Amino acid sequence: MAYGLLKGKRGVISGALNEQSIAWKVAALAHAEGAKIVLTNAPVAMRMGEIDKLAEETGSIIIGADATKDDELDNLFTKAKENLGGPVDFVLHSIGMSPNVRKSRTYDDLNYEWYKQTLDISAMSFHRMIQAAVKADALADGGSIVGLSYIAAQRVFPGYGDMADAKALLESIGRSWGYHLGNKMKIRVNTVSQSPSMTTAGSGIKGFTGLFDFAEAMSPLGNAPTEDCANYIISLFSDLTRYVTMQNLYHDGGFSSTGATPFVVDKLMNEPKS
Ligand SMILES: NC(=O)c1ccc[n+]([C@@H]2O[C@H](COP(=O)([O-])OP(=O)(O)OC[C@H]3O[C@@H](n4cnc5c(N)ncnc54)[C@H](O)[C@@H]3O)[C@@H](O)[C@H]2O)c1
Repeated sequence: MAYGLLKGKRGVISGALNEQSIAWKVAALAHAEGAKIVLTNAPVAMRMGEIDKLAEETGSIIIGADATKDDELDNLFTKAKENLGGPVDFVLHSIGMSPNVRKSRTYDDLNYEWYKQTLDISAMSFHRMIQAAVKADALADGGSIVGLSYIAAQRVFPGYGDMADAKALLESIGRSWGYHLGNKMKIRVNTVSQSPSMTTAGSGIKGFTGLFDFAEAMSPLGNAPTEDCANYIISLFSDLTRYVTMQNLYHDGGFSSTGATPFVVDKLMNEPKS
């Protein structure tokens, strides 16, 4: 059911690769809630073509931008403002990739060139996007910016590798921009820390299925589906959350506050000791 929460608002949504993507669900819902949106992704992802379907369904245009390239981000926000007929009220950063994780380089054996790419693509791009939007004068007063994070920023999940460091940086960037933009333009900036989710980026993590099942067993509400993540993000884009800023907000079914569950403890107790 739509509530018209984003009626009259304009937004830029990055990271919709396919129907499983968190950004895909956010874009579909933002459209249903009355927003006009521009979709963006790296040119290489756009060539896969699935984003065209989303653009058609949401009546939006696609402006390609590699989120590690300042000139492409400048172009994105300049054109988005032109195309949408004014500055944007909300921006979603839904971008993550680690060459080390992809190529199974563990945390104790990182390739440092790839490590730089992980941080650049998955975290610094959040800073770059916001800075590009500010410099293009493309952000509306009172707007809202959200980036997607994961609890590996606070706790160790060994298979998450250098992405943990990227998420810690991403959350810090969100807090810092939240201060600067809050002061100047009443714009809020938050990160949403989502449960493990079966997407292209998620399933690239080593041992992802085990991690997914573990989180499910450790969350009183169970893992949060991506559709619900989109619902939460829409509320953050709406005027209902105008004083929420500089936060890392868990959307994880209670995982982050749970120490143990009988299911997990029983399972361990019943396992033969090695
Ligand atoms: N899936 C999970 O378990 C999970 C959990 C918590 C947080 N997240 C985060 O959610 C966000 C979205 O991931 P997802 O799970 O929807 O997976 P996804 O693979 O659908 O989305 C990742 C997106 O990043 C884009 N991207 C990669 N490099 C880019 C670049 N240089 N420039 C622009 N875009 C680029 C990809 O094209 C893709 O669209 C990521 O930040 C991810 O870390 C995912």
